[in-house]
Amino acid sequence: MFTIRVGKRKIKLLNWIIFILVLFFIIYLIGSVFFMIPVFTKSYNYKLVKENYEINNKVFFKNLWFTCKTTEEYKIKAENNFIYDALEKDLIKDGFKKRKQKLIRVNKSLGTCKNDRDLYKKNHSDNYVLFKLNGEKEKKVIYGNDYNDEYVTAKISDKVIKNVNIISNVNKNKIGKYLVTYTMNISKDYTQRLYRIVNVKDEEKPVIKIEGEKNLFLNYSEAYKEPGYTAVDNYDGNITNNVEVKNTVNSKKTGTYKITYKVKDSSNNVAIEQRIVTVKEQNKTVNKEEPKIQVKDGITYVNGVLIVNKTYSLPKNYNPKVNKTALKALKNMQADAKALGLDLKLVSGYRSYETQKKLYENYVLKDGVEKANTYSAKPGNSEHQTGLAFDIGKVDSSFANTDEAKWIEKNAHLYGFIVRYPKDKIDVTGYIYEPWHVRYLGVDLATKVWESNLTLEEYLGLK
Ligand code: DAL
Ligand code: ZN
Repeated sequence: MFTIRVGKRKIKLLNWIIFILVLFFIIYLIGSVFFMIPVFTKSYNYKLVKENYEINNKVFFKNLWFTCKTTEEYKIKAENNFIYDALEKDLIKDGFKKRKQKLIRVNKSLGTCKNDRDLYKKNHSDNYVLFKLNGEKEKKVIYGNDYNDEYVTAKISDKVIKNVNIISNVNKNKIGKYLVTYTMNISKDYTQRLYRIVNVKDEEKPVIKIEGEKNLFLNYSEAYKEPGYTAVDNYDGNITNNVEVKNTVNSKKTGTYKITYKVKDSSNNVAIEQRIVTVKEQNKTVNKEEPKIQVKDGITYVNGVLIVNKTYSLPKNYNPKVNKTALKALKNMQADAKALGLDLKLVSGYRSYETQKKLYENYVLKDGVEKANTYSAKPGNSEHQTGLAFDIGKVDSSFANTDEAKWIEKNAHLYGFIVRYPKDKIDVTGYIYEPWHVRYLGVDLATKVWESNLTLEEYLGLK
């Protein structure tokens, strides 16, 4: 290898070269720090003055200019790359207000002060950024309905910016607040963001369904048995367990009571339903005196009322046909019921002794005497032979819970009829509950019997 002698020492040539390079580098670094910065870089220490204004939601950047320290001051028209953050808007009263001034280091790309002179334009037209939400800042969406984004208006001067990025996680099927973010990239370094809150809400109240009668009648001292209810909500589903029931019924006191059913869904939508309970007058024997029983031509009248039951029968030849007043009342009742959508068709009206005989004998053949006697009168003992009794709707135990049967129970007296064989009165009448069998008594008497909550026998003092 090449070697150089320095005094007594021999140094290799390569080492010399490395030594010299390192030396120069150190000198260069020191030189750069103290002397050479202006040589390699230029300091663009500009002062940017930004005056912006807000007029009717538009942010104007007017008279953007900067000054250069190193040369005389002059103004330069700003180009679009000088659009700065416009989010810090205050609400401007009177529609026009001078905003703020900022000191900002100018983007190097504008060049040196000398060259900036070339950029100067006398035409100072306005540049503005318009980035605003279309529609409300907090938007309500009804649960289950579609969310239609109203988007934003995004402009730089008159140029509409289309590449606004939207981030949204709105789930129309789940109540809650969601954020929609709109991002507009103005330049590589500047973005603007707008936000919208989308509130998916449930405003529908639950539906309470009252089972049984909404107008319920109780006999005096008869305990109230809740017929039931359900509550279903569009969002929460079945919320029957949350129903609060307020029951004020006192069956020991005649009068009208309200039962209130109240339920709230998870969004605090409240539903209320009511049932009206009427406690009927206390059972009492209306006629305290002994009933006046008269028999005329084999027909029994109690206090003037024709009576046919298991005790009092009619002569075989008693054949009055249908009672015209009773039939007219029946037709009125049928018409009114029909207007409510109820079908009270006549199944059986006047029946002669012979007809009843055939019927009864058939029932005995079918079910035996004992059972037949619970639902069929023997010939001569049927109220149908009076022409004052009708079977309406359907002669079948399934009729009991129909709307028709319930309506008859509540309204027949208004037309002069009573349900002759009421529920749970087999010990008094001798017959099972026949919600279809009505007996004409005239409105006054039928109403009194209905109000007394007694059978006709009890009302007349026979039992
Ligand atoms: N079903 C009634 C009781 C009658 O046969 O007259
Ligand atoms: Zn009948």
